Amino acid sequence: MALPLVILTHPLPPEWISTLQGRVRLLVGPAEPPGFAPHLLEQLGGAEGILCLLTDKVDSALLEAAPRLRVVSNMAVGFDNIDIAACTLRKIPVGNTPGVLTDATADLTLALLLSSARTLFKAAMDAKDGFWRTWSPTGWLGADLRGATLGIVGMGKIGKAVAERAKGFGLKLIYTDSKHLPEVDAQYSAEFRSLDNLLRESDFVSLHCPLNAKTRGLIDETALKKMKPTATLINTARGPIIVNDALVRALREGWIAGAALDVTDPEPLPPEHPLYDLPNSFIVPHIGSATHGTRRRMAEMACENLLAGLDGEKLPNHVNPDIYPA
Ligand code: GLV
Repeated sequence: MALPLVILTHPLPPEWISTLQGRVRLLVGPAEPPGFAPHLLEQLGGAEGILCLLTDKVDSALLEAAPRLRVVSNMAVGFDNIDIAACTLRKIPVGNTPGVLTDATADLTLALLLSSARTLFKAAMDAKDGFWRTWSPTGWLGADLRGATLGIVGMGKIGKAVAERAKGFGLKLIYTDSKHLPEVDAQYSAEFRSLDNLLRESDFVSLHCPLNAKTRGLIDETALKKMKPTATLINTARGPIIVNDALVRALREGWIAGAALDVTDPEPLPPEHPLYDLPNSFIVPHIGSATHGTRRRMAEMACENLLAGLDGEKLPNHVNPDIYPA
């Protein structure tokens, strides 16, 4: 019997996807540009599985062109690139990779917080560029962390992992979520706030909510104007949670002190974008989960989901509610 055709939108190291060997026929897309390459789109009609990245849009039009499709496996925890309702309508389960990237993303969040608090990027550049001429008592001054307030927006797995780390630095923790989570208060010595109050009180605001209809544009002009002029905004969640133009104005006009972003809108952020030129914005290219171990485990989990879907079994991690009978 012919092996099922699977579209892998981007090449992955063979050792990360070794479980697919002998189980599927792989049609692999190029490393760049992101998305479904033309030669993949041509073969959609015969594809039974898709293993894709967060940069690949799976919408109704794509599903229409793939009548044999039985599973979509996203190598990411976020799944805002996929029209889940459209997949569910066609009884196509969608897999994701939760849990495995929690630590790596929380680590990066702390790296961004620390580097912006201590002006690391500018200090390193100045040293390299010959501005380190003396030990300056007033040079490269940053913020103290002990006693400062960190506001966590979205107290899911990653938000909690950030809280656990931040406690070690003596930060006071406040958080917001769709509801008060009493078990979180006790475990992380954190206090619940409305979003408005969190924005007003925080010295650092860190975003950890998923991107969905409720959170798109959550941090807009009104929200940014509620923040302290000394505060820093950190985003390792999804770019469109922040309204970009409002952020540029906030940084230019001093509504807030700085932004440290792992995610942007759009991605990649074009090199001519004004956010790169602002001295108080620090941008890295969506590397929250980018450790050797994490990325490998994400790929392995994506393969597990894919194979389960092709075998007609329940995906170990699926995101469409109501796809399986109770
Ligand atoms: C990364 O952003 C992910 O959603 O896995």
